[in-house]
Amino acid sequence: MKTVAVYPGSFDPPTFGHLDIIDRSSQVFSRVIVAVAMNLGKDTMFRPKERVEMLRTLTRPFANVEVDSFRGLLVEYVRAVEAHVIVRGLRAISDFEYEFQMAHMNKKLAPAVDTVFMMTGERYSYISSHITKEIARFRGKIDDLVPPLVRDRMARKLKGEAKTHRTSHRGERSETR
Ligand code: PNS
Repeated sequence: MKTVAVYPGSFDPPTFGHLDIIDRSSQVFSRVIVAVAMNLGKDTMFRPKERVEMLRTLTRPFANVEVDSFRGLLVEYVRAVEAHVIVRGLRAISDFEYEFQMAHMNKKLAPAVDTVFMMTGERYSYISSHITKEIARFRGKIDDLVPPLVRDRMARKLKGEAKTHRTSHRGERSETR
């Protein structure tokens, strides 16, 4: 049987933890669609298009993995692509409560869709996009957390942010003179 799975997330940015789940789910399902959520209402570092681009490059080695983006309800997207499985990675107990609620809610909204959890590989279990951004902002080393492509894109973003920050501060000073 052909099993299509959707692996949804913010992927802001994609980490080695995400790639571990993508790699392993590509070995379990016949087709995996990595789906970047667009309307997060979150202050993201990367635009959806940039996240999709990075993921497309990173998932090139996996023949049965594709990358897409979606707006609105995840289950509507899952239905639209005729998938029946949502894949989510679980790192620690702290992830459980949120994932539990989301899986049950999605099941209520779309009873034909199941959520399958994969334990994130032990060596990646402490990685999160949020913590990666924080470390990068304070100029910490993120080589073990994200692929070089993502590390370099983050460095460029942060350089841009710092420049904007400096310019706006200069503006503030000249206004008070
Ligand atoms: O990587 P994240 O931020 O943990 O991913 C969360 C995501 C994007 C999978 C979740 O917020 C989601 O599915 N958003 C789409 C809107 C939706 O369907 N919300 C109801 C979920 S019960």
